[in-house]
Amino acid sequence: MFGSLLIAAPMAGGTSTTALATAAASAGALGFLAAGYRSVQEVAEQIAATRAGLAGTSSFGVNVFVPGETGLDPAAAAALAAYRAVLEEEAQRCGASVGPIPQRLDDEWPEKIELLCQDPVPYVSFTFGLAPTGVVRRLQRAGSIVLASVTTTAEALAAQETGVDALVVQHPSAGGHSAAFLPAPGTSGQGFADAAELVRAVAASTTLPLVGAGGIGTPAQAKAALAAGARAVQLGTALVRTPESGARDLHKNALADPRYTETAVTRAFTGRPARALVNRFVREHSAHAPEAYPQVHFLTAGIRAAAAAAGDAGSLNLWAGTEWRHARADPARDVLAGFLKEL
Ligand SMILES: Cc1cc2nc3c(=O)[nH]c(=O)nc-3n(C[C@H](O)[C@H](O)[C@H](O)COP(=O)(O)O)c2cc1C
Repeated sequence: MFGSLLIAAPMAGGTSTTALATAAASAGALGFLAAGYRSVQEVAEQIAATRAGLAGTSSFGVNVFVPGETGLDPAAAAALAAYRAVLEEEAQRCGASVGPIPQRLDDEWPEKIELLCQDPVPYVSFTFGLAPTGVVRRLQRAGSIVLASVTTTAEALAAQETGVDALVVQHPSAGGHSAAFLPAPGTSGQGFADAAELVRAVAASTTLPLVGAGGIGTPAQAKAALAAGARAVQLGTALVRTPESGARDLHKNALADPRYTETAVTRAFTGRPARALVNRFVREHSAHAPEAYPQVHFLTAGIRAAAAAAGDAGSLNLWAGTEWRHARADPARDVLAGFLKEL
């Protein structure tokens, strides 16, 4: 199904690159591009560059954000306005501006689906929600294997209804945004110690092939997820420090900086829960950041850009899974080959 036991996770925001996808293939893993936040034109260019880099011999995938309901009820709008006022103070401090929030909040979804139907890639995965059955069918007819990201058994069953070929089962220890799309009491997947346990629970309710993700920092953790029933495992944070990752140096260095001692799930940067290293911004804003994605993402974009330019990691979204300490700065090919050797 995946041609490999190991997948280089899609990581939007610049971390996933053509170089990372091709390095993954050269190690015998499956690489992914991340379409999130990119224009459809950029995605088309990355697909073309990846095909050229792979010379047609290896496979790769493209991950797409599924847009959700972006309308805000009066309470959420008020919470967003209050957060905007807090962020104005942040922005003044670093000479940035807050916002603006664009008219269009769908991440160019229709154009991206059209591109992937017209110019298909071997694998398409979705996160933040479910692609409608019609979209899943179109992509499958075009020749793609379609994956949905889920965080609970309930989400797995809902995804199965849409006709997808496989599921990425993401444990809450994962770095970056949670893929959760159904309301769950507390953090999705809570109650399962790790990706292996969550995979075992989901495998009991569906026969779809599963990819285990979240908190896989060592080959032993990968093996546990495979033994629990996953057909492959997906590594995110473990690849962020590699030279092929397009993450900022500030982010890469923070992952190796002993002054960071924990990660937390926060809405402070984007309005959607995401796991990051705990820095000043996370400490100061997690308590009052509203649930308003992608509005908060756009409100904080200028602050994050100014922080990056000023070398201030304290105001950046330092996405990291709980196993971040295992992330190494070695070439991606070596990191992935090191895992594969032991699986
Ligand atoms: C920097 C970063 C960006 C990410 N961006 C995406 C994304 O665009 N789409 C997606 O489905 N998952 C995204 N994720 C989640 C990964 O695909 C994967 O599920 C997660 O990294 C696995 O957990 P780990 O970080 O503990 O390995 C991102 C993760 C990180 C660390």
